[in-house]
Amino acid sequence: MKIQIINGPNLNLIGAREPEIYGSISFEDYLQQLLTLYPKIEIGYFQSNVEGEIINKLHETGFDCDGIVLNAGAYTHTSLAIRDAIKSISTPVVEVHISNVHARESFRRKSMLAGVCKGVIAGFGLDSYRLAIETFKVPVISTPVLI
Ligand code: DQA
Repeated sequence: MKIQIINGPNLNLIGAREPEIYGSISFEDYLQQLLTLYPKIEIGYFQSNVEGEIINKLHETGFDCDGIVLNAGAYTHTSLAIRDAIKSISTPVVEVHISNVHARESFRRKSMLAGVCKGVIAGFGLDSYRLAIETFKVPVISTPVLI
């Protein structure tokens, strides 16, 4: 199984940036934990502060991996171009956020991307990425199952 993680603008500063919101662990350190947790999954990682580079990475990986975990940062709330890129590829994309965007400023409640993603995970700190990976490991159940 191949999963690509794509992080957008300012996420290179995770660990240093607003630690009260995003925590104090760097993404690189967290990634090492993910790699240890999932030795059988090939996990690719890419970060860019540039919208077009995020789109290029979606195009490059969006036809040959099993899932994309995308935290588009602030572009989540603005980028029609990233939305179109997600629609253009065949690999399912899960939108993730470290913070609970719904509990913050109102402009963070709107996502340009959610409607074309497989789903959205937000508010679980860096663990949001692991939860997103988990969604690719289980088949999607289309009919709700009562437990
Ligand atoms: C974020 C939430 C966005 O609103 C913000 O612009 C980010 C990070 C998150 O992971 O919580 O850069 O995507």
